[in-house]
Amino acid sequence: MAKIKTTFFCQNCGAQSPKWLGKCPSCAEWNTFVEEVIQREEVKRGYRMPDAGNRKPVKISDVSMSNEKRIDLHDQELNRVLGGGLVPGSVVLIGGEPGIGKSTLMLQVSLHCQGLKVLYVTGEESDQQIRMRSDRIGMKNEACFILAETSTQNIFPCLDEIKPDLIVVDSIQTLSTQVIDSSAGSISQIRECTAELQKYSKTTNIPVILIGHITKDGTIAGPKILEHMVDTVLQFEGDRNYGYRILRAVKNRFGSTSELGIYEMQDRGLRQVSNPSEILLSQRDENVSGIAIAATIEGLRPMLIETQALVSSAAYGTPQRSSTGFDTRRLNMLLAVLEKRSGFRLGVKDVFLNIAGGIRVDDPAIDLAVVVAVLSSNDDVPIDNKICFAAEVGLSGEIRPVTRIEPRIVEAEKLGFEKIYISQYNSKGISHRKFKIQVAPVKKIEELWVSLFR
Ligand code: TYD
Ligand code: MG
Repeated sequence: MAKIKTTFFCQNCGAQSPKWLGKCPSCAEWNTFVEEVIQREEVKRGYRMPDAGNRKPVKISDVSMSNEKRIDLHDQELNRVLGGGLVPGSVVLIGGEPGIGKSTLMLQVSLHCQGLKVLYVTGEESDQQIRMRSDRIGMKNEACFILAETSTQNIFPCLDEIKPDLIVVDSIQTLSTQVIDSSAGSISQIRECTAELQKYSKTTNIPVILIGHITKDGTIAGPKILEHMVDTVLQFEGDRNYGYRILRAVKNRFGSTSELGIYEMQDRGLRQVSNPSEILLSQRDENVSGIAIAATIEGLRPMLIETQALVSSAAYGTPQRSSTGFDTRRLNMLLAVLEKRSGFRLGVKDVFLNIAGGIRVDDPAIDLAVVVAVLSSNDDVPIDNKICFAAEVGLSGEIRPVTRIEPRIVEAEKLGFEKIYISQYNSKGISHRKFKIQVAPVKKIEELWVSLFR
């Protein structure tokens, strides 16, 4: 049996070596050698395009659009994050920390997709373990097949036999192809296996969902090139101590990357949270100081989020600042603004900030609620629970406008809030008469402080 020729290449300078080296003798970089195939026999390929070499250029207007229809995955959150369903022939990569629920989510989708023939390829669990899990989640789809296999050479014949409508691979790090010698999970194996699956998907128009592990620093394990190869990269995140999980699109060739899906992990699988504001509204019984509600937008969906702050006198020389769900550097900046521009003495105080529900928001419109929560805790004066906030705070203490203010106001009104504070620049562009909720424009933090606490 003729052997496939592989060589190790330095990813930095392109130097070659027949063996793996820790340090490149040519450019002196560490850990840059990666095995690459330099000559292969087509017969031994994991998957070969049927019409390889016979393709001709076609006019773009002549390309048929028959397969454009998106596949409904029977999961509103996932459909929305994907941009309205799964595109046939696309490859989706979903990454997340161990135990966050990637396998649960994908198995649940496979089991609930009535009318779709799904093949769930697992290299992580045995078929009995998958069966146990699926009994917990509940089966609705009769046509869900499980394949416990890790070698792509054995997977492709099964695909040709079953002809599924959707393939799920759990996980890409456990797959290996014979083309390359290195062990499963190595960079070259991940790349080669993804390339084979991608070619299969593009030629047969069957979508593939890959589950990927992430590394310590939160990126998907394997080379960055993996993210380039696939059409969509989704991130599944959340605090394991809270039941909530967030699905975000990091890259999407067929939709927006600002969409967000929210789930709650329950004992019978993941429940879709279609009204995200319920995360915060459950805990609102009595008025306590240090709590303010922010009207934020993630993707196209407005949601109201509770920010909680605790300000207390520092017990030690250096005051502590810590935050969960919010950038600590941004918190420090806001505290500096309060100190310098508005004269609040927070330099000698410990400040702790928490976004309820354990979710992380990137929307700058949450700034004002953070500031108000800090001031409320500092003065020990609660904020009326019928008030919410939506504005960014600038370095000079000015209250800045945010994008798409109207949907935020509408959402706040819908949830029974009676007053929303926004930037006065935002207030100019909207017609106040349209809303029942009182829209209060503010310009400076001091002005807001007077109106809330005086
Ligand atoms: P899992 O999908 O195995 O995580 P990943 O594939 O991302 O590593 O998720 C496992 C966790 O989810 C585990 O800690 C138990 C929990 N879980 C539930 O709470 N309810 C359920 O119905 C299932 C199936 C799992
Ligand atoms: Mg798993």
